[in-house]
Amino acid sequence: MEKLVITGGNRLSGAIKISGAKNALLPIIAASILGKTPSILQEIPDLEDVRTISEVLHELGLTVRREEPDTLVIDSSSISKCEAPYELVRKMRASFLVMGSLLGRCGQAKISLPGGCAIGTRPIDLHLKGFEALGAEIVLGHGYIEARAPQGLTGARIYLDFPSVGATENIMMAASTAKGQTILENPAEEPEIVDLATYLNTMGARIRGAGTNVIKIEGVAELRGATHTVIPDRIEAGTYMVAAAITGGDIRLDNVLVEHLKPVIAKLKEAGVTVDEDINGVRVRSSGKLKPVDIKTLPYPGFPTDMQSQFMSLMAVTAGTSVVTETVFENRFMHVDELKRMGAHIKIEGRTAVIEGVGKLTGCPVKATDLRAGAALVLAGLVADGQTEVGCIHHIDRGYDNLVGKFRTLGADIVRTPTG
Ligand code: EPZ
Repeated sequence: MEKLVITGGNRLSGAIKISGAKNALLPIIAASILGKTPSILQEIPDLEDVRTISEVLHELGLTVRREEPDTLVIDSSSISKCEAPYELVRKMRASFLVMGSLLGRCGQAKISLPGGCAIGTRPIDLHLKGFEALGAEIVLGHGYIEARAPQGLTGARIYLDFPSVGATENIMMAASTAKGQTILENPAEEPEIVDLATYLNTMGARIRGAGTNVIKIEGVAELRGATHTVIPDRIEAGTYMVAAAITGGDIRLDNVLVEHLKPVIAKLKEAGVTVDEDINGVRVRSSGKLKPVDIKTLPYPGFPTDMQSQFMSLMAVTAGTSVVTETVFENRFMHVDELKRMGAHIKIEGRTAVIEGVGKLTGCPVKATDLRAGAALVLAGLVADGQTEVGCIHHIDRGYDNLVGKFRTLGADIVRTPTG
């Protein structure tokens, strides 16, 4: 096991490049199962989640080869089974995204039920509702979900009660090779949905309206592999933008699509941070004296839930009162107790946290409870007095490529050491 040891107080400066988006590449890697010929995926960062979903594809009989520095070559012509085992799905809920592409490719899929996780129960009822609407028979038993469509899938009109990102992705993949038209109403509109649709269309799918509140899919007989470069990771970018804000720094981030970060940039500017946008990135500057702002997480294009904990760290050291409301997940305040160990004044009332900014946090041992909570604790450590030790950093490794290297490039005092 390893931990991060951060000594607070350094203002960040310099420039780094943002990596490809974890939440775009996971459904895209799953979608490569649909292609009868190999796919070449570029700007794929070195993440634990990439290794996990690659193991799932290996388990199904596909070959996944990494070509340094950031390319994956996936060949699904050797697919030999349609079952993803518990030990892999347990590690990463997004493994469930192979269900839609297996159904679309093979007409059947057997996937272990994805467990819940620290941030909530994470049900899959909307995924299953979509598969059944497309004509699949769903059987639950022994911790597995089996979907069967021996006659193939048939297009349908599907309304999502909640704009679930995963359900939208799974249904898009299954519907791509269904007979006839599928109309998906109230889908998720995240940039990662658009990136998946772009990849699927390059493979020969006929998807229109991704990124809006109605997606139309004309099923096609089969899809071919394709070359695709994934979009930049807006959440990684947002995390480093908050790092500049919280340390009173001046940094530049390359490979950023600012249109994907509008709510985050708006809130940082409201707090008094200077954000200069240009064609390929952003420059983020802060005097360190910020104003408290309230945030409420919402499905895209609202403020992203994946930036909630990072923003809370910023508000924890911003004089005044700010209110954070989490509407997407029912239990995404696991970082609050850890921030309070560092001296933050935060009070939780249901899905709302009220933060009274303090002049200083103090460094101490803390634990990452999930990916973004871990990022929030690193941010707090950058400004805390003394040393902060962040444990359980396997959560952070899932979604941040070379976090220590990037922060050290920006001047942070951060090292990775064995927990010993
Ligand atoms: C994706 O998770 C992301 N993960 C999450 O990022 C992100 O927080 C989330 O979307 C919301 O933006 C990936 O893309 C791999 P949802 P997903 O289905 O698809 C409820 C990170 O930190 N729901 O939109 O699981 C669910 O309980 C991760 O990178 C149902 O009720 O999110 C939750 O409350 C964390 N029934 C809400 O919808 C369903 O069938 C949002 O879930 C599906 C979801």
